[in-house]
Amino acid sequence: MSQTVVFANQKGGVGKTTSAVNIGAYMAAAGRRVLLVDFDPQGNLSSSVGIRKQEIGIYDILIGKVAPFDAIVPTPQENMDIIPSDLHLSGATVELVDAEGRDGYLKRALKPLVGQYDYILIDCPPSLGILTINGFVAAESVIVPLQCEFFALEGFLNMLFQTIKRIQSSLNPSLSVGGIIFTMYDSRTRLSQEVIQQVKIAFKAHPELLFKTVIPRNVRLSEAPSHGMPINMYDPGCVGARSYAALTEEVMKRV
Ligand SMILES: Nc1ncnc2c1ncn2[C@@H]1O[C@H](COP(=O)(O)OP(=O)(O)OP(=O)(O)O)[C@@H](O)[C@H]1O
Ligand SMILES: [Mg+2]
Repeated sequence: MSQTVVFANQKGGVGKTTSAVNIGAYMAAAGRRVLLVDFDPQGNLSSSVGIRKQEIGIYDILIGKVAPFDAIVPTPQENMDIIPSDLHLSGATVELVDAEGRDGYLKRALKPLVGQYDYILIDCPPSLGILTINGFVAAESVIVPLQCEFFALEGFLNMLFQTIKRIQSSLNPSLSVGGIIFTMYDSRTRLSQEVIQQVKIAFKAHPELLFKTVIPRNVRLSEAPSHGMPINMYDPGCVGARSYAALTEEVMKRV
């Protein structure tokens, strides 16, 4: 059976896409079969693996225009495929709102692929709208990347976890929280340390939800996407790569 993991946080630019592509790449490098699903109309996950302006994508699967297998594209990383996002996905936000069973579209669309991969990783847009809800319904676990430079995150986290709880009690009782990843950590700033402290206090009843590996701010991680490569291919020795390698081991034990 596949483990389906959704990367979500309604705040933009916190490291959802960077975490999805690099964790996926290290899973694949460890011999797991990985499918990335770009569920963000921005298409950043697709461009992170060198795919631009895709004609066929996740939207075509959602509306039943193409079979899921026909939208799968290989990535430069062996054992890792992707279903790219496409320009039409933003339209889905509007169209799905009135559709019957609107929250289960992605789950139904991915159903034929379950069992074909060890891990299916879904990258969501920065909102708690219909696309992210579809991600929550399709997944067994949710991973929340959290930027260590973000102040006043408590309100955000509350809103996110309330949404997850609502999904757990209605649409998807088997959804569990895989964990929170601290990203873009900068040891020179006090803010980074404060953010981690604040979250540790907020989660003191569930310390297991915080991944131990912290991802530092590392320029190589931000360069890799424009070369269409995950970090293990772009610069395997850099500190960002080593951190994502260690984090992936933790993730694979957890989900
Ligand atoms: N650890 C890091 N060090 C340096 N730069 C990073 C790191 N993680 C991510 N970035 C860069 O920060 C930006 C935002 O990261 P990313 O796209 O992964 O966030 P996101 O949460 O997916 O954003 P969005 O909400 O827009 O989808 C990108 O330019 C990315 O390359
Ligand atoms: Mg993103």
